[in-house]
This record gives sequence, structure tokens and C-alpha cells, in this order.
Amino acid sequence: MQQHLKHPIFKILAETAEQTKTEIYVIGGFVRDLYLERPSKDIDIVVLGNGIEFAEKVGQKLKSNVAIFKSFGTAMLKYHDLEIEFVGARKESYRSNSRKPIVENGTLQDDQLRRDFTINALAISLNKQNYGEVIDPFEGLADLQNKTIRTPLDPIITFSDDPLRMMRAIRFATQLHFNIDQAAIEAISSQKERIHIVSKERITDELNKIILAPKPSIGFNYLFDTGLLKLIFPQMANLYGVEIINGRGHKDNFYHTLQVLDNICQTSEDLWLRWAAILHDIAKPATKRYEEGHGWTFHGHEDKGARMVPQIFAQLKLPLNDKMKFVQKLVLLHLRPIVLAQEKITDSAVRRLLFEAGEEIESLMLLCNADVTTKNEYKLKKYRNNFELVKQKLKDVEERDQLRNWQPPITGNDIMQTFGLAAGKEVGILKNAIREAILEGDITNNYEEAFTFMLQKAKELGLEPVTS
Ligand code: CTP
Repeated sequence: MQQHLKHPIFKILAETAEQTKTEIYVIGGFVRDLYLERPSKDIDIVVLGNGIEFAEKVGQKLKSNVAIFKSFGTAMLKYHDLEIEFVGARKESYRSNSRKPIVENGTLQDDQLRRDFTINALAISLNKQNYGEVIDPFEGLADLQNKTIRTPLDPIITFSDDPLRMMRAIRFATQLHFNIDQAAIEAISSQKERIHIVSKERITDELNKIILAPKPSIGFNYLFDTGLLKLIFPQMANLYGVEIINGRGHKDNFYHTLQVLDNICQTSEDLWLRWAAILHDIAKPATKRYEEGHGWTFHGHEDKGARMVPQIFAQLKLPLNDKMKFVQKLVLLHLRPIVLAQEKITDSAVRRLLFEAGEEIESLMLLCNADVTTKNEYKLKKYRNNFELVKQKLKDVEERDQLRNWQPPITGNDIMQTFGLAAGKEVGILKNAIREAILEGDITNNYEEAFTFMLQKAKELGLEPVTS
């Protein structure tokens, strides 16, 4: 591995180690990522001794500031684009955000043993006698080769040291496309309740990393099968299952949602669009009904789903800001393009969709496309063709009518001034009538046509313009 420690920082660290007679190792994610050829800017250094003191020595040499986190017993410094963290070798569990006292003065092996996974416990020596040697007491290299997430200790102990590691196991399996070792899966299933001692923010951080992976369904299947999902995000686990009445079943909305999520990941990296995919059918269990002679229906699930979004965001400590509004809008409108594609596509329906979706129209079209999961080749082809038509129509209407970010050509103020009205019911009626006429295509989206139309409409209400 020596040839991989190319960065000049490693020489500087090794020199400092030599001068101060301290043993140090690169450890953790950086080493793992070296082997996986994933670029990494975070370097963790484990120091056999006092991590903070050693960091200060390096800081003096590099003339850089050292940030010290006394309660964690760690220190950090930045060097060009790298973040280097120093920690004394520990005998006790290694974990971030720990409130337990830190027990330093462990051996390298003590420290490695208390880390989460064998692939994260690999260390490379920065010491003169064996510079560049990989120290791998738990066959982490073999696990990298076999694509396995395994704990160095009995997984029950590793997970009880920090239950967030159950989420981390699933997150790494998803990001790296690895399998989780059977004993670890069983330990997650049996220890899952312990996740409750972990903060919601940390859980959601891991969840978002799963969602941002190329194929998030890997992680959600693990979360579901181990029972963790039901604890951390019950609404999603609730999508699982098929009910059968009179021999008729509906599709399993959990696996459908995973398919939609994986589909959207092929076309977008956007976390919030991915959340919209996760939540698009979230209200299906709550709106499910069996109608005689008709079969299963989920009337209004888009509306109810949109209303569920703020509560789910709050529960998961996701931001309650415009990102949430974006997800809400997409959940609300997710059926619209597909309904359009199934019917005769009229200009006015397209105009309405553009008007309601506004800036989000492209994201909505991506979501809708991802929502087509039929295995029936004929249906799939039909959908796709109609969908292309909708897209073309959207483009035409948009170019012609410019309805995205629509501002009414006549404002409420204009109306009040023209007819000498105070704010009130009539102003609303006229404004709505103008908007409807534009969306229906009765008039064009410009001031003159809207003004003439307004005068006519006002007359029907018995209103005359005031002469100035
Ligand atoms: N670690 C651990 N248990 C935790 C968190 C971290 O044992 N709950 C150890 C692992 O050895 C890990 C290292 O601390 O490799 C650094 O943790 P972190 O920066 O969170 O993760 P990385 O492995 O670097 O991966 P990523 O940057 O993708 O989170």
C-alpha cells in the first residue's frame, strides 16, 4: 500500500512520528477507500498515546490551526483539501458522539477491535520500521474482496457499543453494494429496539446516505427485513403487503415504491426528488378500499399523502422548509401527467398542469416516468408513447403561453382601480375568471385580452369601470 500513500502529508506525519517517538497509523474509512479506489479527503490517524498532543506537534510543523475536541479526545487539522483527525488508540468502544468517558492507551489491536466493521478497522503503518504495511487482524481485506460487512467482535457487542452501527452496516452495504454477514443481520434483528437510544438526526443522516446511493432498495430491503424500518419509519413499512378480496389483490406498494425509487435514481441525484419517490404512495394504506365490481381503489391518496408529508418530515427531523414544500407538491401532483397521458391530451389540461407544477414540472415528469413499473410490455409501450406526447405538448404550450411562474396579467390592484372597488369578493371572482379563461385557452395570456375579458365579466356582475 506504500505506493498509495502518495500525498506529501504522509511523509510529514511519519517524520513527526519519528521525531516524537510516537507510533501512528492511518485507519478507518481512508484505508478502506484506498482499496476500493474511492476518493477520500478525510484521514483518520490513530496515535498510540495522546492524540491531541501529537496533533499539536503536526500543527506546529504545518503552521496550521488545530481544532481540539477535548470531550471526544480528538483533534483535527486541515491541510489543503484534506481533513486529518487524530485520536489516541482506545480500549473502549470507538464511536462518534459518545458520552462515555474515553479510555485511551489501548494497543492498536484494542482500537481496531472496537471499531464497527472489519473493512473499517484496517490500518496502515506510518512508522519507520514498517512504513506502508497493512495491519489487518480481522481479515478486513478478505471481506473487501468478498464484499462483506462483518463486525470484528460478536455483532451483538459491536452493535450494543453504538446501535447506530446497525444503520451504518446497512448504509455501507447499500453504498458499496456489499452483503451483510448473516450473524450481523441476525444481531440487527434481535437488537433493533436499541436504535431508540440513538438520536433521530443521526438515524436520518444514515437514511439519507442510503437514499443517495445508486440503488437504495438494497438498504430498504435490509431495513425492512430486519424490522428496523418499522421502528424508524413506520409509515413506509406500512406500505408492505397485499390484501386479497374475491380473489383480487392489489400490488404491493412497498416493493412498488422501491422500484420507483431505484428508477428515479437512474435519472436524478437529487435527494428531495428521491424523497418524493419514497413518499408518492405513502397514503395508499390509509385510503385503500375494495369496491364491489370495481376492485381496489386508493382515491385521494395523492392528496392525503401530501398532507402527511410535514408530519413525516418533522418525525424524521428532515428540514421543514422549501425542500419539504417541493416534496409535498410532487406527491400531490404525481398522478397528473400519467392521467393526462391516458386521456385525450387537451391544451387546457396541459396548461393547468404547467400552471400548478410551475418550476417543478421537470421533476414531476421524472417522478411520473419512474412511477411506471408495469411488467406488461404492451402497456409499458403505450404509456411511454403517450408520455412522450405529453412532454411534447408541455413544451409547445410552455413556449406559447409561458405559464411557468405565471403571474396574472391583471392584478387585484388593477381590478380595484378599474372599478373603484375595495378589496372583497368581486375582486376574487374576477381574478379567478381571468385565470380560468387563460387556462381554458379562451383568451391568451396577455394584458389586452385579459382586460377586455375582465370588462365583459364585470358587466355580468353589474360592475362598470369608473371614469377618471
Ligand atoms: N467508527 C466506528 N463506529 C461508529 C462510527 C465510526 O467504529 N459508529 C469508526 C470506523 O472505523 C470508521 C471511522 O470510525 O471507519 C470513521 O468514521 P466515519 O468518518 O463516520 O466513517 P467512514 O468510515 O470514514 O465513512 P464515511 O465517511 O462514509 O461516513
